[in-house]
Amino acid sequence: MRLTRCQAALAAAITLNLLVLFYVSWLQHLPRNSRTRGSRRVSASGPRVTVLVREFEAFDNAVPELVDSFLQLDPAQPVVVVADTLPYPPLALPRIPNVRLALLQPALDRPAAASRPETYVATEYVALVPDGARAEAPGQLERMVEVLRAGGSRLVAAPVASANPARCLALNVSLREWTARYGPAPSASRCDALEGDAVLLLRARDLFNLSAPLARPVGTGLFLQTALHGWTMQLLECSGGQPSGHGPRALEGGARGRARRTALLAALGIRLVSWESGRLEWFGCSKETPRCFGTVVGDTPAYLYEERWTPPCCLRALRETARYVVGVLEAAGVRYWLGGGCCCGAARHGDIIPWDYDVDLGIYLEDVGNCEQLRGAEAGSMVDERGFVWEKAVEGDFFRVQYSESNHLHVDLWPFYPRNGVMTKDTWLDHRQDVEFPEHFLQPLVPLPFAGFVAQAPNNYRRFLELKFGPGVIENPEYPNPALLSLTGSS
Ligand SMILES: *[C@@H]1O[C@H](CO)[C@@H](O)[C@H](O)[C@H]1NC(C)=O
Ligand SMILES: *[C@@H]1O[C@H](CO)[C@@H](O)[C@H](O)[C@H]1NC(C)=O
Repeated sequence: MRLTRCQAALAAAITLNLLVLFYVSWLQHLPRNSRTRGSRRVSASGPRVTVLVREFEAFDNAVPELVDSFLQLDPAQPVVVVADTLPYPPLALPRIPNVRLALLQPALDRPAAASRPETYVATEYVALVPDGARAEAPGQLERMVEVLRAGGSRLVAAPVASANPARCLALNVSLREWTARYGPAPSASRCDALEGDAVLLLRARDLFNLSAPLARPVGTGLFLQTALHGWTMQLLECSGGQPSGHGPRALEGGARGRARRTALLAALGIRLVSWESGRLEWFGCSKETPRCFGTVVGDTPAYLYEERWTPPCCLRALRETARYVVGVLEAAGVRYWLGGGCCCGAARHGDIIPWDYDVDLGIYLEDVGNCEQLRGAEAGSMVDERGFVWEKAVEGDFFRVQYSESNHLHVDLWPFYPRNGVMTKDTWLDHRQDVEFPEHFLQPLVPLPFAGFVAQAPNNYRRFLELKFGPGVIENPEYPNPALLSLTGSS
């Protein structure tokens, strides 16, 4: 068979195409690391780790000695010292290209990239080294890299020989509940967080992909973020070869350290820290501060849009206010009952609904005169001896007890009166649950655990709640205004 020149050209083109296709598909089927082996070999010839120094105080530190100790072992060791602003007194750092000072605070005369620490890091790994640590033996960082590459953890820590050597902790972070819970680690080498001094090694791309990679205190901030991602850390044994600690260190204690930590927790949205010992540390609102969320619009507080529930300090203040108000009402002989939302929380789990922002109680209108604080509120607002504010609500004919003059978290008291066997009132809000109901639900009232005490609730509260909210309300939690925002995300 004779081929024309045109047929030959076509056959050649097809063959070439097939060859290209086979080559491309062969490339794609290669294991990932054999494709990148070439570039790894290149990077393995120089240092693979940048030493990052972030945690130090400008006025008292041993950062120059730390840097020198690494340079003595390897003069080409990349080092980046990170500060918010130019340290003063100035740091005596060697003027060589592999040692750089990164200033995070933006300055008018510098491009934005200059205030990002990742701009200064060219290696695959970074080691966060605490002030006061010293490199003691060559190859320490390389060994940590090998452990990181061999194991299943995202971070490797080497304890620094110091008065406060690193210890492993478990850490659960719940953004929705604004809470960090520390506990004992299941094993001494697999940790979520550390307490104490350590050199931390991780991939640069992991570190700089975090929200606040170098926020101080570095340990506190970093572990909250890595624990949230579920990254575990391997803590190496103290085996003589670890970096040693000398000289001054930035302590997390002290007024400056505490202020920094409080600011960091606020920035990361952590309002309750529960320690291994069971000690609780609260941040956020108190009697002296404003309420920690603003005016509620459409029955949907701002935090729900942030996919968070009521801040723990607010729940605590609401529980305290509810318990106090109930004590006052009971002492004065005012008949009260848990209103819709809190009765529902009590029925579900004996507490305030975790995303609720106030507490509603019903009271008998005819009992109002029995209570000195309510009489005071009728005449104008009054602050009682415990600092709670009792007032007639501006929104209508009901009473409001605020946590304090500054903090307007509140318990609302809704006066009802019976008319032909139906409990009614004169002010109605545009809420589904704000409806009349038969008085027999209040005859008798029944005790129900709520918010850490025992409150009075309507009898047959399941039917009471279903009358207000519809069938299945106890079993099917929903946000207050599902038309705006739904718990199940369906609207
Ligand atoms: C973290 O959460 C897990 C799973 O819910 C639980 O088993 C563990 O006890 C929690 N640890 C801490 C410290 O709260
Ligand atoms: C950065 O983080 C986001 C989510 O936190 C993740 O989806 C993404 O894959 C990460 N990128 C890298 C390069 O690790």
